[in-house]
Amino acid sequence: MTRYLVTSALPYANGPIHFGHVIGAYLPADVYVRTLRMQGEEALYVCGADEHGVAITIGAERDGIAYPEYVARWRTEIKRTFDRLGLEFDVWSGTSISPFHAELSQDFFRRIDRNGFLVQRETEQLYCTTDRMFLADRYVTGTCPSCGFESARGDECPRCAKWLNPLDFADPRCKVCGTTPERRRTTHWYLDLPKVRDEFLGSWIANHEWKPNVGAFIANQMKEIEPRPITRDMSWGVPLPADTAGDITGKVLYVWFDAPIGYVSFTREWAESKGEPEAWKRWWQDSQTRLVHFIGKDNIPFHCVVFPAMLHATKAGYVLPWQVPANEFYNLQGRKFSTSGGWTIPLDEFFAKFDAQATRFYLLASAPETKDSEFNWKDFQACNNAQLADAIGNLVTRVLKFVDKHYAGHIPACAPEHEAELDRVLLTECGAFGDPAESIRAFRFRRAAEQLIENARVANVFVDRSAPWSLQKTDPARAASVLATCAEWIGYVARWMAPFMPEKAQAIWAMLGQSGSVTARGWPAPPVAGQWRLGLAGSKLGAVAGLFPKIDDATVAAEIAALEERAKQVAAG
Ligand code: MF3
Ligand code: ZN
Repeated sequence: MTRYLVTSALPYANGPIHFGHVIGAYLPADVYVRTLRMQGEEALYVCGADEHGVAITIGAERDGIAYPEYVARWRTEIKRTFDRLGLEFDVWSGTSISPFHAELSQDFFRRIDRNGFLVQRETEQLYCTTDRMFLADRYVTGTCPSCGFESARGDECPRCAKWLNPLDFADPRCKVCGTTPERRRTTHWYLDLPKVRDEFLGSWIANHEWKPNVGAFIANQMKEIEPRPITRDMSWGVPLPADTAGDITGKVLYVWFDAPIGYVSFTREWAESKGEPEAWKRWWQDSQTRLVHFIGKDNIPFHCVVFPAMLHATKAGYVLPWQVPANEFYNLQGRKFSTSGGWTIPLDEFFAKFDAQATRFYLLASAPETKDSEFNWKDFQACNNAQLADAIGNLVTRVLKFVDKHYAGHIPACAPEHEAELDRVLLTECGAFGDPAESIRAFRFRRAAEQLIENARVANVFVDRSAPWSLQKTDPARAASVLATCAEWIGYVARWMAPFMPEKAQAIWAMLGQSGSVTARGWPAPPVAGQWRLGLAGSKLGAVAGLFPKIDDATVAAEIAALEERAKQVAAG
């Protein structure tokens, strides 16, 4: 049977997660996995922190703490945010702590080398004689040869945004000690991408069905592909295998080489923890696996070109990605999220005031699926108030409170003589409804969010049309049938909601008096007249309470003002 191996981009353990990351690579994956599972599919969801590379060493040095301690702190902090949002990974680990990671990364390197896909090249690089180390691009500053800015970064000029090569600085300086580094020769290993392209990657990419925004992006890259260095001169990272031919002193694997291998090592860690150490092979080396990488736009080249090239070049029978549902960028109120620039939402404060489940829904409903989109406070308010509180919350409370009051807290039965007619009215006359799972499986989360609301509105129209409150006085038997039908529909709404807002769905399930978990009940087949009812009649309702508190205008205005104030203060230093 087909099984789904789902990954989310491993976040760098060097700073907090913001909503742009969340909707880019994490939340859609969580919803996808939950939906698949409710539909009876086998799925595994793998994630963990990306803990090597210069972004980490620079951050740790700035904070004056050891690398392992620094990454542990952010690994924990990031996971805390994910927990708040209800993201449920089967395994969460980190590339510097996972027990199989170094060994497996070296195994990749060795196999790729043995299969003739690595080349060695000698280059020149800046070397600091004081610190006795080769300087990664970001460890060098100097005057930008393009615009003259005096403290440009070795990889990029922050003023003119030009990509730089630190060897082009006339006045290079070591960022650590400020002295002038010298040029030295160093040897690195390169992944021979043109060779992989000609042997396999070119035709694989051309014949694969990609999301349109992804396909266009990588077709371009294929033409200009060049060998890519996969080693670095630094101390923090996975060392090269000891048996490598050549001088490997002071060299580690490049972070973008070892990071995606984390998906595999974390799966091994998961298998080991289940007491089935060999089980990872079923996920990674079996043609029945569909590998799905959820990522943000900036990760496309690595997941669609470089990592598949690595997997192929090992010749170890690894599966290749089946789909890479990459998102575009997600902004905040018209500007890019910027943690350092203060243009962000501190999540601890946010979750003290706003509901995480409603936030999940809003992020999905505004996801940057086909083009850039943004978190907008007024849209968030409108989504919460008009869609969640009115369409779903109000439906549930008004129907169930009425049942509670008039039927002694028990869901009434639909009389046989009313059933066919009420099914017809509900299923064909109260508006269109669709199956959100179809959209979710096509990675159309915005559409699925709309469908969920449309489906809830069907019941609102049904209630308005059949007016059970007045029927109660004139034709109580029919009123009972109407309410029974509404309660059944609410049971559907709860299950359609479950991947998006698992806790709220469970709360509704409990209000309907159902024991056990709503997800265990499985995904509903599209409702068909005469056979869709679950048989909730007779269930004793749980306590009926409001689901989605409304957000008022003053609250939203205060949040927007606080955001602007925060950015202003950071700008003022
Ligand atoms: N850490 C990278 C980022 O945040 C993503 C790494 S994904 C992996 O952009 F596949 F390499 F793990
Ligand atoms: Zn130095």
